[in-house]
Amino acid sequence: MPDTIAHDSSAACFSAAKLNSLTLKNRFIKAGTFENMTSNGVPSDALNRFHGELADGGIAMTTLGYCAVENDGRLNENMMYMHEGIRPPLSVLIADLHQRGTMVSGQMGYCGGFSKNRHLSRRRPLGPSFGLNGLGIAQGMLFCDAMSVRDINAMVASYSRAATFMKSVGFDALEIHFGHGYGLCQFMSPKTNKRKDEYGGSLENRMRLPLRVLAAVREAVGDDFPLLGKISMTEGVRGGLHYDDAVEISKLLDKAGIDGIITSGGTSSMNPMIMFRGGNILPAMLKTEPSLVMRLILRLAGKAMFKDYPYKELYFLEQAKRIREAVNCKMIYVGGASSRASFDQLMAAGFDFIQLGRSLLSDPDLPNRAQADVNFVSRCTHCNECVATIESPEGIHCTQF
Ligand SMILES: Cc1cc2nc3c(=O)[nH]c(=O)nc-3n(C[C@H](O)[C@H](O)[C@H](O)COP(=O)(O)O)c2cc1C
Repeated sequence: MPDTIAHDSSAACFSAAKLNSLTLKNRFIKAGTFENMTSNGVPSDALNRFHGELADGGIAMTTLGYCAVENDGRLNENMMYMHEGIRPPLSVLIADLHQRGTMVSGQMGYCGGFSKNRHLSRRRPLGPSFGLNGLGIAQGMLFCDAMSVRDINAMVASYSRAATFMKSVGFDALEIHFGHGYGLCQFMSPKTNKRKDEYGGSLENRMRLPLRVLAAVREAVGDDFPLLGKISMTEGVRGGLHYDDAVEISKLLDKAGIDGIITSGGTSSMNPMIMFRGGNILPAMLKTEPSLVMRLILRLAGKAMFKDYPYKELYFLEQAKRIREAVNCKMIYVGGASSRASFDQLMAAGFDFIQLGRSLLSDPDLPNRAQADVNFVSRCTHCNECVATIESPEGIHCTQF
């Protein structure tokens, strides 16, 4: 159970709690949602305003979505990658959020073999094994290549360098992305990892790279720095990772010294709708996808990839509870938490923190309002149109309010 500072169980979600050496003023953390407010990879004033509004709304810690650990780790060229060139705008952003009383986490991402980044240093993106790169079709990058052990070592070094940079620039915590079908998840998954060497085959082998990355990041930031990991409890595809695997994976991360596990699900490349249940995003994507080829592919194959998962409040609760029981580290719930009743339920179920995605897009001042009103329910309708705004020039936003 958490090192709770205030003991009023009726308002546990508004009590301070520790995450390693960091004290968060309440239990609300903004989930990583790639903002698309980093044109050509540079943090913009819009990004500052976006997180500033969340800070003023009472969130304890916000997360900068998808901070690629190196250039080739970006899904597209508008994403930030961690390098000295962006130190000035990042420092300003983080200092401003600190002044507003909010801590800042950075989501460390590496896309692996799933990329449409036209600025790659090589012809094709690299994943655990040779395969299709569905995202890169319009860019003529139909396939990804398999990493050599040298490439794997270079990737670990990139995480280490990025972690050192991120700590030095002022981030209060880091979140390693182990889920959603990105690079590390591709290694963890038997669906995408077909390697025959020590990085493929058994779960122990498939976890070798993710655990090396965790160790390298830990070494770079030190024992007292908060490190979170976001996992997909299920990929939602035959032959992929499922809930039973997630329990074993979580135990390994816990044993290796992670401070907190965020229990998400789904993969951006194969079955994204498990992650954000509610309105199907296919119609909005067909409207906003700029590439004719991708629109054609979406028309032909979209129904198979974008399956219907109707919204249900706290849709990952039962599976996340299994992990709560299996690990000692902090547990961060994500997925359909959008009312005060749900926040109280999560606290009572032993979760330490709550990550919020869509409900903070519709209600940036959610923590303050939920504190003032025990009957608070977010205005978010889970229509998921915000997901399609990920390509919008103005960045992600709620289309309803
Ligand atoms: C617009 C948008 C962008 C997202 N981008 C990311 C991302 O960059 N990284 C990530 O791990 N999850 C991303 N997600 C998923 C959220 O972090 C979260 O897991 C999901 O929305 C479920 O939480 P919710 O029900 O509180 O929205 C995104 C979600 C939305 C709506």
